[in-house]
Amino acid sequence: MKAGRISRTAEAAAALRANHHQNSSNPVFSDPYAFEMTNGRWRKLLSNPIFCKFLNSAPLNQSLGRLTAQVVGRSIYAEDWLLEALDRGEILQYVLVGAGLDSFVLRMAEQYPELKIFEVDHPDTQKIKIHKLKKLGTIPSNVEFVSIDFEKEKISDALLRSSYDSKMPAFFSWLGTTHYLKPETTLATLQNIASIAHLNSEVVMDYSIDYKQLQGIERIGSFAIAQFTRFLKEPLIGTFTSEHLHQTVEKMGYVVLEDLSGTEITKRYFHQRADQIRHTQATHLIHLQIV
Ligand SMILES: C[S@@+](CC[C@H](N)C(=O)[O-])C[C@H]1O[C@@H](n2cnc3c(N)ncnc32)[C@H](O)[C@@H]1O
Repeated sequence: MKAGRISRTAEAAAALRANHHQNSSNPVFSDPYAFEMTNGRWRKLLSNPIFCKFLNSAPLNQSLGRLTAQVVGRSIYAEDWLLEALDRGEILQYVLVGAGLDSFVLRMAEQYPELKIFEVDHPDTQKIKIHKLKKLGTIPSNVEFVSIDFEKEKISDALLRSSYDSKMPAFFSWLGTTHYLKPETTLATLQNIASIAHLNSEVVMDYSIDYKQLQGIERIGSFAIAQFTRFLKEPLIGTFTSEHLHQTVEKMGYVVLEDLSGTEITKRYFHQRADQIRHTQATHLIHLQIV
């Protein structure tokens, strides 16, 4: 991330959620706050009907649509599993790691007053996020903000500054972030989460596959996105093979409940859509549990 400013990829992700919410006839994931959460430049573009028509045209749905599906797909996947865990009554803490401009606290926090919600993010992103949340309403009292730089600090040390309780199961979502971290930082963070997460705690995260393992338009698209995020000063540096990731996290005490490829995510959430958006092959979604 560029020092001193909010994550630009967080703003871009919010803009894609806003466009999906506003312009899709059957959104996979509805985020009514995304438009206000993104920056003024994105809001100006998303208010322009010609730009929106172009953005949601068939050729762009087949290309950029894969990125939209990645962004909204990871959000619905995490919240589906979170809500299931909440229904089972097993989870009393929700930790959004690298929360970015996610609007869960505005959409859902008041429905779950017993749930303690921790937003863990880089201080530069968090400062602007808190300002935006305050402009949009009152921050619910069950929400705490914990700042961290993953490259410099352990999440366990950061959470020590909050009321996080390692004796209670927690649900961790870690979305859209591992791509920008060194693989060893992601693994160290997962190891560190395992050390502070009570039995039955769950983790949902997404991770990138090396673009050299992709074919055709996926390979070209992934390469193009890598160049774009480099331009945004948030280069994509974290990729994994599923086999290596599974073996490593299993040694940390996790069980892999599910690992969905792009094709499987499309089957679950983007099947036979009128706009034909499909999930990229470049990222997977993984659901882990501490056993
Ligand atoms: C693409 S955004 C994802 C935001 C959100 N989870 C989503 O799905 O839209 C990446 C997030 O990672 C955070 N991030 C990137 N590098 C970080 C670091 N070294 N330490 C802490 N947070 C970091 C950014 O602040 C940003 O919120």
